[in-house]
Formats: sequence, structure tokens, C-alpha cells
Amino acid sequence: MIKEITAQMLDTESFIKEKVAEIKTAVGTGTAINALSGGVDSSTVTLLAHRALASQLRTVFIENGLMREGEPERIARLFKKLGVPVEIVDARNEFFSALRGITDPERKREAITQTFYKKVFGRIVMESGSVHLLQGTILTDVDETVAGIKRQHNVFEQLGINPEKAFGYKIIEPLIQLRKDGVRMLGRALGLPNEISDRIPFPGPALAARVIGEVTPERIATVRRATAVVERVLTGIKAFQYLAILHEDRVTGMRDGKRDFGLQIELRSWDSVDARTATPTRLSFDMLEKLAHEILADVPGVVSVTYNIAPKPPSTIEAV
Ligand code: XMP
Repeated sequence: MIKEITAQMLDTESFIKEKVAEIKTAVGTGTAINALSGGVDSSTVTLLAHRALASQLRTVFIENGLMREGEPERIARLFKKLGVPVEIVDARNEFFSALRGITDPERKREAITQTFYKKVFGRIVMESGSVHLLQGTILTDVDETVAGIKRQHNVFEQLGINPEKAFGYKIIEPLIQLRKDGVRMLGRALGLPNEISDRIPFPGPALAARVIGEVTPERIATVRRATAVVERVLTGIKAFQYLAILHEDRVTGMRDGKRDFGLQIELRSWDSVDARTATPTRLSFDMLEKLAHEILADVPGVVSVTYNIAPKPPSTIEAV
């Protein structure tokens, strides 16, 4: 049983002190590897681990081909400014080959997990001789996995999987007692700039969690464009998270006076405190129209844009 630390209970300074000491003890004179994705959780863990380990930490950004527009370069640049060197590892082919032909949500997550931890990370860790992997798993990830709602890609122990046996390394998860609001506080206390600490959450399986049906480079490119539009238009609104989903079904539309069997994009925007429950943001109709117009103008092949109005539960925040 993991003991929760709520944002109200969290004393960031003593938490940092305690975790820095724990990480130092666990890693000793060895080295640790840390996969940075640019999300709030992994960014916070990167700064925490950097504080504990300095040059004993190697931070990699796995370019899995499923990230948002310009993300690997942007994050590497930003962390460089914070004094943390980040190495970008191009693993796009490995992820897309593993995802080829898969449409079932759980199998998709499993393919990403296996590619990430076993293939790509296994290789990097083996080459480095390091046996420790630092990871930003939070309590919400654990809850949902244990409840069987969704397999979060970063939860092993709770599923009875021993990562040392399965993948050959130990996982250190210093944020596991916190939820998102606590992680944001901690990130800020560690010097994470607001553009990251206030960032809306982004799932581990990245844009693959937003493609219903097969994940191909082309379909990811579509959802990536739509995501960029949604994030641009909705930046600054009061919402927990907003996203675009590419549907599997096509629908008939009209383009240049001809029928066009085109793509459907679903938009979601959520009000939530900790992602356990969520309600759709009451966006104005003007805002919804603006979103629709910009998506239709910017994302090739789309003929339908819808807005989700179902709460979580029974919905979930992501679509896969
Ligand atoms: P759901 O879709 O389960 O999402 O309502 C809850 C929150 O978690 C994020 N999410 C994930 N994060 N690995 C992650 O690290 C995952 O597999 C994953 N799936 C969802 C989601 O964006 C939301 O904030």
C-alpha cells in the first residue's frame, strides 16, 4: 500500500531532501538513467534526480515518433538551459514497427511498453552498464492500473512484474506518493519553469493514446497537427487538459464540391483536479467554432470535428 501525500500535506523542501537522500543511497557510486519525455512528471523527476546525482545521471529523450510537434528539440534545449544535458535517441522505426497492424488498445499499450522498456531502454541501459532507471510514476497511474481501468505504461510492481527480472534493471519512482497537483508544486520548488510545471498532462504512450485504430506515421501526423491546433487555441484557458483524438471510422463530407470520405477528429477538454474524475470544460460556442475552423483549415483530410460532452467516469481522459 502506497501512502499518499496530498498537495495540502506536501512540504516541498523536506520532500526534496528526503528523496535526494533516498536516490543517492539507492544509486551509490553507480549511475542512473532517466527517460525524459517533457511532461510534468518526468521533468520533475529529472530535476530531482539531477539534484541527487549530478553527473552520475544520464538523461535520455526517446524520440518514439509519437510526440507532439517539435517536442524533442524543445525539451532538450530547455533542460540544457537548466544545466541538465539531454541525449535524444531516435527510436521511431522501432516503435512504428511494433505498432504495425495493432488496433486493440491494450495491445497497443503493451507494444509501446515492450518497445520502450525492453528493446530501446534495455539496449541503452545495457550499453551504459547502469542498473537504475528513474521514473516519474505518480499515484493516479498506480490506482488506475490496479483498478484495471487502464494499463498505465509505467506501472510494473503493482502488476506483480519484477522489472529487474523482466527488463534487467531496477526502477526508482520518487513521485509515487504524489498526484499531479503535488508534482507541479514540487517541480516549481525544483526550479522547473512555469511553461513546463503548468503544462497540461500528456500520457506516456503519447499521441498513440489518441489514435483509435492502427497507429501509423501518417495517422500520428494527423493527430499531431490537430493537437498543435488545440493547444494553440486553448492555451491559457482554465482547464486541466485538452486534446484531439483521431477516430478510426471515416464519414462522408464535401470538399471542392465533391463527396469526400474523410477523417473525424474529436476534441476533449477536461476540468479536473487530479484526473480521477473529470467533467468537460464548458467552452463557449464561439470557441468551439474557432477550434473547428482551425482544425479544418490546418489538418489535411478532416471533414468532421466533434466535442466530447461525457464526463469521466464512464469516459476516460484519453481515448485508448
Ligand atoms: P485516463 O485516460 O486514464 O487518463 O483518464 C488519466 C490521466 O493520465 C494520463 N494518462 C497516462 N499517463 N501513461 C501515463 O503516464 C499512460 O498510459 C496514460 N494514460 C493516460 C492522461 O493524460 C490523464 O492525464
